[in-house]
Amino acid sequence: MRSCSSFIFSSKALTFFISHWQHSSLSAILSTATKGPIITTDMELGTLAVTIVCGILLAAILYIRASSKKSHEGTTARLPPGPPRWPIFGNLLQLGPLPHRDFASFCEKYGPLVYLRLGNVNAITTNDPEIIREILLRQDEIFASRPKTLAAVHLAYGCGDVALAPLGPHWKRMRRICMEHLLSIKRLESFAEHRAHEAQHLVQDVLARTQSPKPVNLRQVLGAFSMNNVTRMLLGKQYFGVKSAGPDEAMEFMDITHELFWLLGLIYLGDYLPIWRWFDPFGCEKKMRNVEKRVDEFHQKIIEEHRKCGNSDDEGEMDFVDILLSLPGEDGKEHLDDVEIKALIQDMIAAATDTSSVTNEWAMAEVIKHPRVLRKIQEELDSVIGPDRMVTESDLTQLNYLRCVVRETFRMHPAGPFLIPHESICATKINGYHIPANTRVFINTHALGRNTSIWDNIEEFRPERHLPADGSNSRVEISHGVDFKILPFSAGKRKCPGAPLGLVFVLMALARLFHCFDWSLPDGVEIDTTEVYGMTMPKAKPLMAIARPRLASHMYQ
Ligand code: HEM
Repeated sequence: MRSCSSFIFSSKALTFFISHWQHSSLSAILSTATKGPIITTDMELGTLAVTIVCGILLAAILYIRASSKKSHEGTTARLPPGPPRWPIFGNLLQLGPLPHRDFASFCEKYGPLVYLRLGNVNAITTNDPEIIREILLRQDEIFASRPKTLAAVHLAYGCGDVALAPLGPHWKRMRRICMEHLLSIKRLESFAEHRAHEAQHLVQDVLARTQSPKPVNLRQVLGAFSMNNVTRMLLGKQYFGVKSAGPDEAMEFMDITHELFWLLGLIYLGDYLPIWRWFDPFGCEKKMRNVEKRVDEFHQKIIEEHRKCGNSDDEGEMDFVDILLSLPGEDGKEHLDDVEIKALIQDMIAAATDTSSVTNEWAMAEVIKHPRVLRKIQEELDSVIGPDRMVTESDLTQLNYLRCVVRETFRMHPAGPFLIPHESICATKINGYHIPANTRVFINTHALGRNTSIWDNIEEFRPERHLPADGSNSRVEISHGVDFKILPFSAGKRKCPGAPLGLVFVLMALARLFHCFDWSLPDGVEIDTTEVYGMTMPKAKPLMAIARPRLASHMYQ
């Protein structure tokens, strides 16, 4: 799940531009930035520079006039503390390529609730369980909306999906469709057999890769596992592997999905400084429109194919697209509109694939880095499952140590560092501070897991810290507990409706991979835990490791 409004600086050009902007004068920026491929002639260079400077001056004058008018009007409301702000840009220039870390350092310096001005947008950030509880539970009605960013408009059918839709009747209806028709317990049970096939396919995929002297690329393996599970459920097809839908279609699918994630996670300065849209120097909006068109064509093709084949009469055989095609629309319409179906297809793909594969890769990386933890996981698997059968979904509740491993992974590497940013619908107060209407809310789950007032030895991967304090064998809860100390699936109105399914994807992949294989690193290689900021936050480099089968050979058939 990559957020359309969160601060991803994964665009090299943008990172470059911003980091240079932070450290250089405007003229230096203009000269460095224009060395890129986007602007080609001296003429264009000069025109752009003059236009940008004029634009900035004009905006500065408007800003100063607006601010002085406000102070004359006697605005007395006390905003939460925060770092000093520049005119026009506010705090945008204080952010680098890992904004969740910048936001965390603001919380360390200014307290648990920090106010930021990002261009012309009010924002708050927090890493504190009590303030998070206030936002997501006590004031859920106020904070459960979403900002309408340009990426959300272009890439989520005008915010017509679930995940990026503002609070309102449309969001409510789309979310109800998800909960009642796509992600209900009954529906998820009907896909159990598909998931069991995919779990076995995962093991066979790794086994096949152990025949080569090269280490296993776990990013590829885990990405294919998540994608196959989702496409089986959604479209009735496996995309990678023996029964794949065809290499061309699979590659096209992956290709657009990645581009979509990238754009959804990108910080587009046009959302914060409207003047930026006049220039759009890196062509972001053009790219958004291009991907919007490709994605839409792809989804339309899926719908047409399903219409051609006709709906299956057997409830158990229906995939998500069949189900969506069979549902009645709003205001007495016979069917949902195609746009609504496409928006939901897109949400399911975006929300379910990256989140689980990124979590799995981090968990594998931390466990392989800590052989003591790997041994303890395998001891548990050997005692609960034994060597003569494979792990099934019904075993997952009994694997308490593995559940602690997943919880610890979410503490250190939450799939989305800021959830999906929320937005307030009206002015309110938190801890006595004024929070204006339309304030963007960045709940920093990455910093919550590293908050030293609630966790000790924050950089140490220690699953045992999540074992029940009373020493009992009661089941370890992975989504949030009452204490709000970790929040992998959020809470309140916007909490993840796919959490039970997401947890099955994560626990099943890990249980199978640790039960069936021993894992180690190639000689002389160390695991690099650098992260890349985005809507989800993967490891910067794909995880490569050596797998050795540990069960009898007939078990892998
Ligand atoms: C390990 C796997 C997963 C993780 C860590 C995860 C996490 C999250 C998070 C943090 C949010 C944002 C909540 C907020 O903004 O307050 C979210 C939203 C959402 N997730 Fe998940 N998710 C996972 C799997 C799934 C799956 C499998 C599905 C569906 C098939 C799904 C569907 C959604 C949807 C539709 C939303 C938007 C909800 C709304 O805005 O009302 N997620 N998820």
